[in-house]
Amino acid sequence: MMPILANGTTGSEPVVDCGVVPMYAESPADALSLVGADGAAIVSGVGPSEEDARSVTRTIFGSMVLALPEAAAVFEGGEKDTHPYGSDQPLPLHSDGFAYGLLAPDYFLLSCVRDGDTGGESVLVDGYAMLNALSELDPELHHFALNVAIDQTEPGMHPCIAPLVSTSSAGRMAIRTPIYCEPSPESTNPDGERALIARWFETLERFRQSATRFRMNVGDLIVGVGT
Ligand SMILES: [Fe+2]
Repeated sequence: MMPILANGTTGSEPVVDCGVVPMYAESPADALSLVGADGAAIVSGVGPSEEDARSVTRTIFGSMVLALPEAAAVFEGGEKDTHPYGSDQPLPLHSDGFAYGLLAPDYFLLSCVRDGDTGGESVLVDGYAMLNALSELDPELHHFALNVAIDQTEPGMHPCIAPLVSTSSAGRMAIRTPIYCEPSPESTNPDGERALIARWFETLERFRQSATRFRMNVGDLIVGVGT
């Protein structure tokens, strides 16, 4: 395990490995129990279509399903991918479901439809482990992320002024990686908060780089706990 570095260090130094390498489930019931224990699991042999993914989701969760939104396709240079075709830049650490606001999903599912010719490794980070590590690594940033409301309102969207880490109505902590992120208009320390926001994203990148990676195969479906 990597050592936790001293308070306030920045850059690309490694931090503690908070990565989750999901185990393969042997059955739908096994998937649920692995998700409960580890936060994520992989179901294999899932077909490539959206209906295939929806069908296995209903099998896993049964009567627990309250809502099952449309799938979002993410492929190189395409829909929902922010990088152009041919880019070798990794996606930054982020949480999905921000657009749902307080109705953020309880679970998310990521289906591997096509493998990459090269690379293609995945990273999942345990948000609770990351926050625990952050409380020792950088207590000032930890306090800021949990307690200081900042402006996360995307252009043209409903106002969203909240801390980077909030607690959902289900009592779960949601970690935000907003596209737009500025001090609140009421902030009395905008320059200091801007520096902390920059440090938040630098620190997330360090956690991404330090996390153990794994490969998904075509037909694998990750089931994970939401933000
Ligand atoms: Fe995503």
